[in-house]
Amino acid sequence: MSANNYSAIIDKHKLPQVSIIGAGAIGQLIYQQLSRSNTQVNFISRADQSQQQAVTFTNLAQQQTTCAAMFIGRNDWSQQLVDTKLLIVCVKAYQVVTALKPLIKRLRHDCHILLLHNGMGPHLEVANMLNGQGLSLGTTSQGALKKSAWHTQQTGQGVTQLGHFTGPMLSETIKMSLLSSIPQSQWFEDILPMLWQKLAINVAINPMTAIHDCRNGELAAAQYRKTITAAVTELAQVAAAESIMLDLTVLLDRVYQVIELTAANYSSMHQDVQHQRKTEIEAINGFVVLMASKHGKSARTNQQLLASITALEQTYSNKA
Ligand code: PAF
Repeated sequence: MSANNYSAIIDKHKLPQVSIIGAGAIGQLIYQQLSRSNTQVNFISRADQSQQQAVTFTNLAQQQTTCAAMFIGRNDWSQQLVDTKLLIVCVKAYQVVTALKPLIKRLRHDCHILLLHNGMGPHLEVANMLNGQGLSLGTTSQGALKKSAWHTQQTGQGVTQLGHFTGPMLSETIKMSLLSSIPQSQWFEDILPMLWQKLAINVAINPMTAIHDCRNGELAAAQYRKTITAAVTELAQVAAAESIMLDLTVLLDRVYQVIELTAANYSSMHQDVQHQRKTEIEAINGFVVLMASKHGKSARTNQQLLASITALEQTYSNKA
């Protein structure tokens, strides 16, 4: 049965509860997509008290709706998290472990965790923190923009790739509910190659746009080709050392396709640097460097891009 047919016959009151950590643009987009398909969904908040928050969403057709989202505060974590069957983690890569630490011991053993962030790396640490729960990983190229704290606008369609990583599998009911709620979402038996392919796009576009202070489209210029090719080549070599075989030509074609498709956009790392926010460089080029050193290899271009972005972060006036 297809995911769409399945959603039509699901009884909303019998649906398991999904919780989201991270009310950024992607967290709020996923919240909207799940709640629209009648999944019971709430946010986990760092505040003490639980509260309802009005959240506004503008869809691709520019239609605006507002609904009340439940934010579960710390005082209610123990009581509420026992009902959570899937926890979707939408915080930045460098926040994943800290965000999950106080929650994991309160989750049911049969709760499942799904990490959905740019970059790679936190899954290795989270795998060691699990308390019987299963772990899935995903990546989305849906575009979303936070217009204000509680107003998110969807800015582009895109694929969402999800799949199992370790521990018990996600239940079929929840998997089908996810796939039917998130447009263009797909489940992969082997998710790691998908994450490495997405990482190839990020190792090239993100640091280069931040360093050269440009939109994604400007990276099509010949002057950037050498660095982009070198960064992606190193990634493919490191992935191969991890037994993930990727075709370099396909990777580079995809990078240039994304450069063209998102030509007018500023990458997330460009925006982070412009707003003097910590970037996700450690989970992007930093992950390639880390995996290279694990295999006794060097990844010189990724190392240089990592160093350049780290140096940019050091120039922030407020380094908090
Ligand atoms: O991080 C980003 O900005 C995006 O993943 C991408 C694909 C590079 C487009 O800007």
